[in-house]
Amino acid sequence: MRELTALDLRPFDRARDFPALSDLISAVNVHDEFEWLPTTDELERDWAAPHATFDPERDAIVADADGRLAAAGWVSWAERDGKVVHDFEIWVHPDQRRHGLGTRILAWLEARARESVVDGSGGPADLPRVFGGGLITANPAAAAFAVQAGYPTIRYGFQMRRPLDEPIPEVALPGGLEVRQVLPEHHRAIWDSDVEAFQDHWEARVRTEHDFVRTFTDPDFDPTMWQVAWAGDEVAGSIMNNIYPEANARVGLDIGWLDHVSVRRPWRGRGLASALIVRSLRIHRDRGMAVAALGVDADNPTGALRLYEKFGFRPKYTWAIVRKPF
Ligand SMILES: CC(C)(COP(=O)(O)OP(=O)(O)OC[C@H]1O[C@@H](n2cnc3c(N)ncnc32)[C@H](O)[C@@H]1OP(=O)(O)O)[C@@H](O)C(=O)NCCC(=O)NCCS
Repeated sequence: MRELTALDLRPFDRARDFPALSDLISAVNVHDEFEWLPTTDELERDWAAPHATFDPERDAIVADADGRLAAAGWVSWAERDGKVVHDFEIWVHPDQRRHGLGTRILAWLEARARESVVDGSGGPADLPRVFGGGLITANPAAAAFAVQAGYPTIRYGFQMRRPLDEPIPEVALPGGLEVRQVLPEHHRAIWDSDVEAFQDHWEARVRTEHDFVRTFTDPDFDPTMWQVAWAGDEVAGSIMNNIYPEANARVGLDIGWLDHVSVRRPWRGRGLASALIVRSLRIHRDRGMAVAALGVDADNPTGALRLYEKFGFRPKYTWAIVRKPF
């Protein structure tokens, strides 16, 4: 019989836990060979301000061991396609695995999600609900853990990458469209266009005002990189290009992100996404990036996966989306 952990769980403490959380996630991801080593600042930006769907001191739990974090987990919710998805994430330090810590944290997170329905902090009361999570399929611990916890995979996604030292083809913008510099007064129109285009994405998340503010106030937000195509005074499509210098420094690789690729329905099928992709690749290359990266749903109904493959993107990580009835 494996030895069960005696470590106590306690609520996340915003005043002091960010550095230790950054160390924990980094230790886990180095061990599991996943290139995301978040800095304290990055986590603080994501977690420090409580908002409707996530308050770290209410919705996150940690375990201490030897003056560091042995494990942590959080649960948040999002409205997707007419239901509320209570999503969680768990990190157990490589030294602390197979002692039941992940199982205890998951039980706490599920209980917290149930409680959020009762106390009104868990999203629209009249919608059906489901528990959800995501894992990298190359990580056997996560895959086995999800299966034994009753979370089968319902969908896959990829993080795709494309080296920037390979030639980048020329693709002209479709007639009548022009790419213009992003100005503050354009932010809302660009956002609304992207939200509208993503209605055709599998289980598009209903975005909140918090998401809007977070996107346009992020210290790494650089409007000079974004590619936004206009048809007169309407946005036809856009790519939100971003570079995260600190994150790149930590993994030792210069990655340029094509964070959202979207074309509104009336302008699809004319090569607009292709034109915006090649412009984005050039921008990242000119800024000294070694690879371009993006995330995509493996069964994207609008053919995004094939489009990215055509421009040289290849899967780097496969994500499994796991779900369990509420
Ligand atoms: C997945 C993770 C959270 C598991 O944490 P843990 O504390 O080791 O999990 P538990 O000890 O509670 O394991 C419960 C059961 O999951 C399964 N399991 C967990 N790790 C496993 C592994 N490496 N191989 C096979 N089965 C495993 C087993 O059935 C285990 O029960 P057992 O030890 O009695 O056989 C941890 O490995 C981790 O932090 N992974 C990286 C981050 C991540 O991917 N998180 C998302 C999880 S969905």
